[in-house]
Amino acid sequence: MVNRKYLNDALFGSGKQDYSSIFKFLTKLSDERQPWSKHSDDFKGKVRGIFPCDPLKDDIFKGSYFPLFDVITTSFCLDSAAPDVETYGKIAKKISKYLKIGGHLVIVGVLAETYYNVGEHKYFALAIAEDEVKSSWEGAGFSKYMYN
Ligand SMILES: C[S@@+](CC[C@H](N)C(=O)[O-])C[C@H]1O[C@@H](n2cnc3c(N)ncnc32)[C@H](O)[C@@H]1O
Repeated sequence: MVNRKYLNDALFGSGKQDYSSIFKFLTKLSDERQPWSKHSDDFKGKVRGIFPCDPLKDDIFKGSYFPLFDVITTSFCLDSAAPDVETYGKIAKKISKYLKIGGHLVIVGVLAETYYNVGEHKYFALAIAEDEVKSSWEGAGFSKYMYN
């Protein structure tokens, strides 16, 4: 709930977080003929909504329905939600159902970490190994894997 309110404020309201450096960086990578503020406005214009998602539930989007996605990204959330590797594998299977065949999944995380701080809040993190991540996603039908 707090996360969704924060995202909503950041995108559409009086969010205090300054994202200009991110859009300036993206502008350098993509199309420098457009000012960074245009990239930022375009991005905001493409957001269709901010929805709850609990990967531990059977119905992870709580009754919301979506077309299949081209790309799914997640940052430090799956290893925070999954208490063990078996559950991580089950989450991988649930998420894969929302991705188009040939789509891309981008996971940001750290291997073998046990916690993650956001400000003063300390989140649990599953200390998962690279081979466990790889086999979990292979078990969910993914065939290509790139690790950086
Ligand atoms: C370590 S924070 C990551 C925050 C941010 N995405 C980032 O990259 O800094 C983990 C997030 O996962 C969320 N989370 C953990 N378990 C969850 C669950 N079962 N359902 C939904 N969100 C969950 C927490 O509320 C928290 O916002």
